[in-house]
Amino acid sequence: MTRFIDPHGLERADPALRPRDLSEFVGQLRIVENLRVYIRAALERDEPLDHTLLAGPPGLGKTSLAYVMSEEMGVRTRTASGPTIERGGDLAAILTSLEDHDVLFIDEIHRLNRAVEEVLYPALEDFEIDVVIGSGPGAQSVKLPLCRFTLVGATTRSGLLTAPLRSRFGIHCTFDFYSPEELEQILRRSAERLDIVVTPEGRRELARRARGTPRIVNRLLRRVRDFAQVEGDGTIDAEITRIALQRLEVDEMGLDKMDRRILHTIAVKFSGGPVGLDTLAAAIGESPDTIEETYEPYLIQQGFLHRTPRGRVVTPRGKEHLGIAEPPQGTLL
Ligand SMILES: Nc1ncnc2c1ncn2[C@@H]1O[C@H](COP(=O)(O)OP(=O)(O)OP(=O)(O)O)[C@@H](O)[C@H]1O
Ligand SMILES: [Mg+2]
Repeated sequence: MTRFIDPHGLERADPALRPRDLSEFVGQLRIVENLRVYIRAALERDEPLDHTLLAGPPGLGKTSLAYVMSEEMGVRTRTASGPTIERGGDLAAILTSLEDHDVLFIDEIHRLNRAVEEVLYPALEDFEIDVVIGSGPGAQSVKLPLCRFTLVGATTRSGLLTAPLRSRFGIHCTFDFYSPEELEQILRRSAERLDIVVTPEGRRELARRARGTPRIVNRLLRRVRDFAQVEGDGTIDAEITRIALQRLEVDEMGLDKMDRRILHTIAVKFSGGPVGLDTLAAAIGESPDTIEETYEPYLIQQGFLHRTPRGRVVTPRGKEHLGIAEPPQGTLL
């Protein structure tokens, strides 16, 4: 199911809105400040940057940061995605095409298969790969040297990374949701680039209801612009934002229909939980992966949902948001 605020997918205007260098990259201050140091140190030593793992929910800027890193290093980026590298040979072909200090960006790196990972290990550690020449008894394994490159891996599910792969990254960055203030800053730049007039109140309202996610704030901006153009005077203010978001079924907290359905199902059908992920997924007709990767992180961060060893639980705050009253404490049944 595609949903309006689905943080996945490529937006049309994305290239224009992506930050180009670290100075344009808003938020994630801890990550950015540390990377500045690592990049400067690597440049001074004329070395490639250490292999870097970027982890966090969809739409928070992992791909953007990977490009920003190669921009800052002054190198090229080669891009690949975990599931599309099918055989060890595919990866070997990519690796041998890299030049000194290049960035190899592998998206969805938790989805690399075993055979491909085996090729990757010596490449990461010693900048070489093992190639087998010939076949049968006369086959020989030779080591092929590679240029010294940087692997930047992105994942929405760092828990699924194998331990040997994880341990080969020297730099680990875990992304957090953005504050409304940071999202306002992103909005200001996006509106400028797309030539959209947004009042400060309109900006505040949009930023507050974007699930802490830059991709969503940019997407909401484009949709609200449509409403402002057709049903208003083209300017995005708080009023037209509220009207538009209501039409888009995005609520006061930025939750969409599916978010509310997840909370509602646990609260009502499963008496508040705990309910196992698979059972919940079956009840709402969504895949367990999508729930875990896309919906849950924000619901947990906002304190609407808890993950317990026995399953998912809706918190009192979650019930309050849905307008479901908690039975008074201490009631005897
Ligand atoms: N820190 C940021 N500053 C400004 N804009 C940002 C920032 N992070 C993300 N964006 C905007 O949000 C969009 C989505 O970010 P990006 O594609 O990098 O997310 P992602 O983490 O790679 O998502 P996915 O997990 O789905 O691949 C970017 O195209 C950019 O417009
Ligand atoms: Mg990405």
